[in-house]
Amino acid sequence: MTDQISYARVKSDEQSALSYSQRKQEKHQQEMAMLADAFAHVKDVHTVLDAPCGVGRASIWLAQQGKQVVGIDLGEAALSLARELAEKDGVSASFERQNIFELPYEDGHFDATLCFRLLHHFESEALQQRLIAEICRVSSRYVVISRISPTSFTSLRRRLRKVLSGKDIKQYPVSGAQLDAAFAQHGFKPVHRVARSEFLHSLQLHVYRRG
Ligand SMILES: C[S@@+](CC[C@H](N)C(=O)[O-])C[C@H]1O[C@@H](n2cnc3c(N)ncnc32)[C@H](O)[C@@H]1O
Repeated sequence: MTDQISYARVKSDEQSALSYSQRKQEKHQQEMAMLADAFAHVKDVHTVLDAPCGVGRASIWLAQQGKQVVGIDLGEAALSLARELAEKDGVSASFERQNIFELPYEDGHFDATLCFRLLHHFESEALQQRLIAEICRVSSRYVVISRISPTSFTSLRRRLRKVLSGKDIKQYPVSGAQLDAAFAQHGFKPVHRVARSEFLHSLQLHVYRRG
C-alpha cells in the first residue's frame, strides 16, 4: 500500500464494507436518485468506471441502466460483497482491486467515470488534485463526481466543533467553483450539477464533459 493511501481516512475493511451494504434504504434511494439525475446528462455512454465502487451500489444501478461497468476498490471485502450482490440482482459488472491513484487503464479507456463519496476523504489539496487528474485521464468523455459542500449545515457545525472542542474534522469539503477549476485543468467543463441546497445537503454531485 503506498503512502498516499494512508492519507485517506476512508476505511477499506470488512466491517465498513458490511455497514455500507446495510446503509439505510431511504438514504441509499436518495443517493441513487442523485445518480439518476446526474446520468440523465451523460449522453451516449456505454462503458463506465465506478471508482471506488465499495459494495457495488452504483455499479449495480449503472449495470441496470444498460452500462458496461467496471467497479474498482481497494477493499477485497467490499469487492467480494459487490460481486455477490450483483449476482443476486442478476446484473453483470466486473469488479477489480485497484488503487484509484494508479489506475492500470489507458488514457480515455472509459466513456465515463463515476467517483462517488471519495474526494472528501482526502485532506491534502495535492491528493485531491491527483485523484481528479487520474479519473480525468481514463475518461474519454464524462466524469461524475461528488463533493462535500463547505457551507452545508453539517460542515459548518463540524468547523464550530473543531474550534470549541479541538475534535478533528474528518471530511474535507470543496466548493463547486474549486471543483470546476480543478476539472478545467484537464479540459473538462461543467455540464450539470444535481440541484440541492448547499446549506441543507452536504453531498453534492457534478457532471463534467471533456472539450
Ligand atoms: C465511502 S465508500 C464509497 C463507495 C461507493 N462509491 C458508494 O458510494 O457506495 C469509499 C470507498 O473507497 C475505497 N477506497 C479508499 N481509498 C481508495 C483508493 N486509493 N483506491 C480505490 N478505492 C479506495 C474504500 O475501500 C471504500 O470502499
